[in-house]
Amino acid sequence: MSKMTGKVVWIVGASSGIGRALAHELSKRGAKLIVSARSKDKLKSLVKELEGEALAAPCDVVDIKSLEKAMKAGREAFATIDSVVHLAAIYDPMALRALDIEKTHAITNVNLNGVFNLLHVILPYYRKRHKGQIALCGSVAGYCGLPQGQPYSATKAAVMNIAQSLKSEEEKLNIKLISPGFVDTDLTAKNDFEMPMIISVEKAAKALANGLESSGFEIRFPFIFTSIMKLLAGLPYRLYFFLTQKLER
Ligand SMILES: NC(=O)c1ccc[n+]([C@@H]2O[C@H](COP(=O)([O-])OP(=O)(O)OC[C@H]3O[C@@H](n4cnc5c(N)ncnc54)[C@H](OP(=O)(O)O)[C@@H]3O)[C@@H](O)[C@H]2O)c1
Repeated sequence: MSKMTGKVVWIVGASSGIGRALAHELSKRGAKLIVSARSKDKLKSLVKELEGEALAAPCDVVDIKSLEKAMKAGREAFATIDSVVHLAAIYDPMALRALDIEKTHAITNVNLNGVFNLLHVILPYYRKRHKGQIALCGSVAGYCGLPQGQPYSATKAAVMNIAQSLKSEEEKLNIKLISPGFVDTDLTAKNDFEMPMIISVEKAAKALANGLESSGFEIRFPFIFTSIMKLLAGLPYRLYFFLTQKLER
């Protein structure tokens, strides 16, 4: 039996991509799901597709009231929330010399303030229960500053940093950092370069579900690509910039 059987999992960012595939994977493993994102219709169709119990609870992570409303609806439906998997993010890669400042603020607001908003809503509830899982989604793009990846990469580095602080502060809670490499979704469809070792959403969802069941802090996939990125991030700066400037050229 899966450790997720009977657990109530709130997936924020479930209408497409990794979140949607994760909903399918966890539903197969017997979890009860609260699925959130902005697109109501996509959430409704997802609930119809799922094998087990699920509730569509639309919300926008930049709007605290809508997050509170979604959480309340979830608790009313299932009495409890055992795990929150936060995947909501937007992406529009830019070079710093060509930064669109409005887009930059929008990306920062969703990807970074959205995480703070979620924590503001869920932490008091989990702290009262002395238990609960929170999985925040970073990226290998947050491991180190690469050319042409801002402001998205900076928000993902920040999420990694937040997850580390949270793990240190909240010993009783089950805190996870999700670090995907390239996964084939609408988000990566914006990339105009060949993405090394890209995997399907189904593969990503399996790895993520296994990680949620495991005891480790970081859930990263695919293993080889994320390991290479970790090595790159650990290089001395002279060598690091030699390689990243080559990449830019
Ligand atoms: N795909 C990759 O290669 C990759 C690599 C590294 C990290 N990641 C991370 O993995 C996570 C999932 O990405 P994905 O590739 O599956 O992208 P995706 O298919 O674009 O999914 C993003 C999800 O976030 C939701 N969302 C966006 N803005 C929102 C908002 N303001 N409020 C609530 N929900 C919002 C979207 O739904 P609505 O539009 O309906 O709101 C959608 O469900 C993201 O955190 C991303 O940064 C992805």
